[in-house]
Amino acid sequence: MKPEELYLENAPGDEILVRGNSEELRTLVLNLFDNAVKYSDEQKDIAVEIKTPTLDTISLSVHDNGTGIPKGELKRIFRRFYRAQSEKNKTSEGTGLGLFIVRSVARRYGGDAYAESAGEGQGSTFFVRLPRVYRA
Ligand SMILES: Nc1ncnc2c1ncn2[C@@H]1O[C@H](COP(=O)(O)OP(=O)(O)OP(=O)(O)O)[C@@H](O)[C@H]1O
Ligand SMILES: [Mg+2]
Repeated sequence: MKPEELYLENAPGDEILVRGNSEELRTLVLNLFDNAVKYSDEQKDIAVEIKTPTLDTISLSVHDNGTGIPKGELKRIFRRFYRAQSEKNKTSEGTGLGLFIVRSVARRYGGDAYAESAGEGQGSTFFVRLPRVYRA
């Protein structure tokens, strides 16, 4: 068996590691969780998934059944100080920095962040990709 075949599947208990500053990585995750809660109604349905789409990549996704995001805003929401022009944002507080930080941190570590949503009222999913590392 070739060595890479040994790693292709995550056996139960396998470590999935990223390397970085723990405060920064914590901020990244907390911002996504905070948004998922904040932009959902009373009935919150939030799902978090960690996958390893390739040998050297980790994908974290945070899905909510909340207000959703219009297609035209999916990229803009990652800009510094940008808050979508939604009804929800007229009554909720925020600086518009959370997602900017999420993406900046992900990129600094060689990854990236993006959002998907079928539109307003349709919920959203945020994805963060980060390099996977292995213990020596
Ligand atoms: N899970 C989500 N569902 C729907 N819209 C979202 C979601 N997360 C972010 N958004 C939209 O993206 C905008 C930017 O999000 P971001 O986290 O950067 O700022 P914020 O939540 O407004 O303020 P804060 O800086 O306190 O996080 C939000 O104002 C909102 O319009
Ligand atoms: Mg936020």
